[in-house]
Amino acid sequence: MLVNLFIFAEFIDKMSDKIIPIRGMRDIEGGDARYFSHVVEVAEQAARLFGFETLITPVLEFSSVFYRGVGSATDIVSKETYSFEDRDGSQVTMRPEFTAGVVRGLISNGYTQSLPKRYFSWGPLFRHERPQKGRYRQFHQINYEHFGADSCLADVDIIELAVKVLDELGLMDHVTLNLNSLGDQASRAEYNQALFAYLSKYESELSEDSRIRLHKNPLRILDSKDANDQKIVEGAPRLMNTMNAASQAHFAKVRAALDELGIKYIINQGLVRGPDYYTHTVFEFVTDKLGAQGTVLGGGRYDGLVEKLGGPAIPAVGFAAGIERLYELVMELNHIKLATKLVMLMPIGDRAVDLTPRLARTLRAHGVQLIYEAAGQVGKRMKKADKLAINYAVIYGDDELASGVYRLRNLLSGEEMALTEMDLIATLKKA
Ligand code: HAM
Repeated sequence: MLVNLFIFAEFIDKMSDKIIPIRGMRDIEGGDARYFSHVVEVAEQAARLFGFETLITPVLEFSSVFYRGVGSATDIVSKETYSFEDRDGSQVTMRPEFTAGVVRGLISNGYTQSLPKRYFSWGPLFRHERPQKGRYRQFHQINYEHFGADSCLADVDIIELAVKVLDELGLMDHVTLNLNSLGDQASRAEYNQALFAYLSKYESELSEDSRIRLHKNPLRILDSKDANDQKIVEGAPRLMNTMNAASQAHFAKVRAALDELGIKYIINQGLVRGPDYYTHTVFEFVTDKLGAQGTVLGGGRYDGLVEKLGGPAIPAVGFAAGIERLYELVMELNHIKLATKLVMLMPIGDRAVDLTPRLARTLRAHGVQLIYEAAGQVGKRMKKADKLAINYAVIYGDDELASGVYRLRNLLSGEEMALTEMDLIATLKKA
């Protein structure tokens, strides 16, 4: 057995002689990582403000969760999942999105008995797409789901939450809210039939992708990017006109409440979204500042999904946003400066070095974020501080210790002050 494992390890080693990341998967470091963390912090704060608790779900689920949940005819499932056979023979999939996994969690833990539930999650997701700027094979989302959301005001509150997140990131002036309704399940099914009947007449003229979609999910042809498909779609029946009265009323109330809140939107009747589970309101915030991957956030209502995955009929609404797209947009606009709050202690001489761990503990106990560099020439240490975007250096040697003061240098302005330990703590806490 051990020998087999050894041979296998050697075989793998030969196969992958390049020690590089997998295409479409990246390390996020430095400034990117700082902005990434900023997005997560903003998202978590907004979650608390709107009463969402955190739910952490596994990265790996039985494939059926996503195949049934997202829909086996969708691009996400049919073309993009990372699925494989586990060692026990079961079929598993690395999550391509949160929603279906969160619904599985709701059902398998019996949380359906204690509604309403509002869940916030964030973490990595996997889709085998063609990588380009803003589109990765491992990416990250912030994700919000509200279960037991029967009122159309829940649609409005979830959009208000999306606006809050985007506003806190300074992005609201750079995105447009696209809004549509797919009607309730009955309206959507009826429309699918009408659309199929119309598009079948043009089957031979449709693009190759759309010909496949015609038999699997004709709704997706509405957002085809192919110019000829778009021409054909122009003459298609409109869902808005065929929706039943209850669905019309739901959408009218959502729009009225958004108007009341002053949230601007455009109605986009071609907006159908990627996953299959949506009913009623669907929405996306798009930008023209990120190249081809302009959708930063998308979501909507999905009243039938909990039942489809084996739970009771529970209305739900939610959305997700790509963390990479959000922080890349923030960095592109260059309008939020994330200063590091890091301080560097620079002791000079043995006595000062010996005192440093205690000083570091005292300052950290007051919340001062710091590192120390105890060795090397002061000039070299200053260069290191500069590289790390450090704001303040605290310099102290025998002279300073004798007079009971520390030199605090602002590395941005060059200004220097001599401070007692108490004043140093007070100044750094304020900074
Ligand atoms: P989605 O539209 O598939 O929806 O993804 C939401 C967001 O994730 C996109 O708008 C985009 O910002 C980001 N995203 C998607 N794919 C990639 C990728 N390959 N690289 C980088 N970013 C990407 C969903 O996932 C639904 N589960 C949203 C939802 C939650 N609906 C209801 N609740």
